[in-house]
Amino acid sequence: MVKFNYYTPTEIVFGENSEYEVANLIKVYKGKKVLVHYGGKSALESGLLDRIYEALTANEITYVSLGGVVANPVLSKIEEGITLAKTEKVDFVLAVGGGSVIDSSKAIAVGALSKEPIWSFVGNIDIKKALPVGVVLTIAAAGSEMSSGAVITNDTNDLKRDFGGRALRPVFAILNPELTYTLPTYQTACGVADIIMHTVERYFTNKTSMEITDQISNVLIQTVMRHALVLLDEPTNYESRAEIMWSGSLSHNGLTGARASGGDWACHQMGHELSAKYGVAHGASLTALWPTWARYVSGENKERFKKFAIEVMEVDPSDKTSSEIIDQGILKLEDFFKKLDLPTTLKALDKDINEEDIKDMALKATHNNTFNPGEIKKLHYEDIINIMSKANQ
Ligand code: NZQ
Ligand code: ZN
Repeated sequence: MVKFNYYTPTEIVFGENSEYEVANLIKVYKGKKVLVHYGGKSALESGLLDRIYEALTANEITYVSLGGVVANPVLSKIEEGITLAKTEKVDFVLAVGGGSVIDSSKAIAVGALSKEPIWSFVGNIDIKKALPVGVVLTIAAAGSEMSSGAVITNDTNDLKRDFGGRALRPVFAILNPELTYTLPTYQTACGVADIIMHTVERYFTNKTSMEITDQISNVLIQTVMRHALVLLDEPTNYESRAEIMWSGSLSHNGLTGARASGGDWACHQMGHELSAKYGVAHGASLTALWPTWARYVSGENKERFKKFAIEVMEVDPSDKTSSEIIDQGILKLEDFFKKLDLPTTLKALDKDINEEDIKDMALKATHNNTFNPGEIKKLHYEDIINIMSKANQ
């Protein structure tokens, strides 16, 4: 039976120059003292931060700022942000960046209103109290600008873990596709992979789906694939940047998961271990695992994999056995990732991963053998070792 909650309160302001709306939006959501949070250098170098500071000053909104968020954001920076937010009594957090900056901002927003250490929130998916977070998005990828979750890495023990709740959905997100023109090709590709995977992870379920949700999923994946190829030659093609940016938000706001289950998510669970241990970009961690995962589990739900091959990957089923159709569907997505120059094996990550490393990651991904990621097939410690070892050949 189909059963779902769909709650997506984030106000989206989309289009060129939309970052100039930032001060008005902060006022609408009652921000008076803002923490502006950003990453390494891209928002500084592009002049985006200056434009934001000017808009805040012109509208008499006071602010403090904290940069230096790294990809796969770390606990130590978040703790610095929480201390700053409390000392300065900020009442609004503005994330200027991608998923890492947004997730760091969400964590600060929770920590600012709590006496508990922020790491004690990991695993909690029902967080109800946080400062409001607004977003100026600079990379289409994680979908955190509309999602209820945050993923952070503990830099004392390399654990990458998530938490969430309705309080973590940003109140607004400014999406100007032009802000993504400066992305390096590899980051654009990693973002595209993550967007596709957010719908693919939700698609692979053993439970009931809905025709409307499946059709939205098919179109979203196909649209992102088509426009990602355009960007290989034309990185400043506004229409393609726009299609991908909006797809990124829709792929992770719950829309493509409106069916009887939230999906599989095993590749995300395993991928987080790769990012935590080796600093692999999130999108690349997913593409390095997905083809091997898909071949490992496809026998568990052949109908779903066949539907994926025919309807999403547009494999022509005539004169083919079910296994051939499934194989071609997996191969088509793998080939697409290769076209974007993304790794499709662990070996391609070039991190010199050995069997002991794989055992360590399998232990962490199963939370010391107490949790089994996945829905198509619940993965045990040995399954994760098998998948990672095959992907490492
Ligand atoms: O730090 P800067 O200099 O800004 O560089 C960033 C960073 O190195 C760069 N970048 C961003 N916008 C740019 C730009 N460079 C040039 N021009 C621009 N306009 O891109 C690099 C990657 O940024 P990051 O924020 O890490 O990328 P992404 O959006 O992919 O976020 C990844 C993080 O989000 C988490 C991932 O696990 C990872 O930690 N996720 C969060 C989710 C959520 N909260 O709902 C869901 C996802 O599944 C994902 O797990
Ligand atoms: Zn993701």
